Order: sequence, then structure tokens, then C-alpha cells
Amino acid sequence: MNILFIGDIFGRPGRTLVADHLRDLIERHGLDLVIANGENAAAGFGITPRLAGELLALGIDVLTSGNHIWDRREILEFLPQEPRLLRPANYVSGPGRGLYRGTARSGIEYAVLNLQGRVFMGPSDCPFRTADRELEQLPASCKIRIVDMHAEATSEKLAMGWYLDGRVTAVVGTHTHVPTADECVLPQGTAYITDIGMTGPYDSVIGINKETILQKFLTQMPAKFDAAEGDARLMAVLIRADAETGRALSIERLQLRAG
Ligand SMILES: [Fe+2]
Repeated sequence: MNILFIGDIFGRPGRTLVADHLRDLIERHGLDLVIANGENAAAGFGITPRLAGELLALGIDVLTSGNHIWDRREILEFLPQEPRLLRPANYVSGPGRGLYRGTARSGIEYAVLNLQGRVFMGPSDCPFRTADRELEQLPASCKIRIVDMHAEATSEKLAMGWYLDGRVTAVVGTHTHVPTADECVLPQGTAYITDIGMTGPYDSVIGINKETILQKFLTQMPAKFDAAEGDARLMAVLIRADAETGRALSIERLQLRAG
């Protein structure tokens, strides 16, 4: 089974890359399942129902999110209607869910679990215990289990990788917008990467206009964060998994530039 996980889609540059390349990626790699983190799709802050619909229509099967999920008010009503858009499962309240169960194009059952870290981030319930609880709900027949660990600290993401090794197909990190080069298959068969990186503008500071961020660091005065535009790149990981066992066979990074 071939699974693509696309890193945080940021603003128009990120959405355009997905629109331009996803069909080709699905064909070229024989993808059965496409997952993407979409929490920065709306100009870097949150996602709207319309944008979620557009991304799903492009061939993304499940959208994950994180700390920006509540940025757009209209998402509150939308989340209960669209189970393919997740919010972190370890939030203490709020509409929507953090676990999605589906069947891939090839007929294979799968589940996607969205978690958020607690180190250098807003408060939430324990992501480790939440993972235990959510995974317990899944039937044994659902072998393909993909976890988005949306977190700031590399240590917390690595810890989640080890915690879930052998229990899920993959633990992938999102949120920092900076890709890491540590992709691997852990000893018990879980594919892992600390951060996939952002699908968006790299002529920026993690997606935001770099002059604004520099001024903020230099002056410590409030600033309005505007999404940057330049040097758009798509970052993703391609995971190959054994559909019978749910074990990952390989994980590789994919990077595409606009144009
Ligand atoms: Fe985030």
C-alpha cells in the first residue's frame, strides 16, 4: 500500500502546489491513500470549509490539523459535518474528532489519528494516553494506522514514535514547517519522521513574510503576520506499507518546487 503524507499546506502557494502536482503524484507512485496537514491552508492561519472542500476534491483523502484549527470561526460548524477534516484528538473539548476511519481506493481499511504535543504549545490532554485510548477503538481488521503528531519539540515527537512503534504504520511530525532528515522505519515496523516540512513558501520565516519577522525579533513590537509567496515547495513523505500486517516497509521524503 502506497501512502503519501503532505506536510503543512500553507496559504495559496501551498494549495497551488497541491493542485498542480497531486494528480501526477497519485499516478506516478500508485498512491492508495493521500493525507495532508491543512491547518495553514487559509493564508497561513486555519482552514475554511471551502478550502477544505477544494483540497479534498484534489485527491486528498484526509486532512489533519493542529493548533490553528480554530483560527476561522466557520470551521466550528463545519467540523462535525466533515469527518475527513481532523482536529487533535487530545483537545479537551470542541467540535470534530481526532480519528478518522476509512477505506482506501484499493479497498484497504485505514485510520488516521491526529495528536498535538504539549511541549512549547498550548495545553491539551496527554497525547500518549490519548493515542492508547483512540487506538483501542480500532478493530483488528484496520491494520493501516497513520498518526500525525503535530508538535513543536523534536523530543516529544521522537518519544511518540518510540511509544507507538509496532502499533501503528507511521508516526509523522508536522507543525514546525522545517523538514528533518531523520526518516526511518523503527524496529517494530513503524515509519517515522520528526517533521515533514511545510508545503508552502520557503522565502519566508516558516511561511510568514521574513521582513515582518525580522522586525519583530529586532523590536519586540507586535506585528501583523502576512503569508509569504516566494520559493514554494511541496514537502511530503511516501510510505510503503504491508496491507496485511500494517507494518511500514519504507519511508522516503519527496520535495517538489513550483514551476
Ligand atoms: Fe501548527
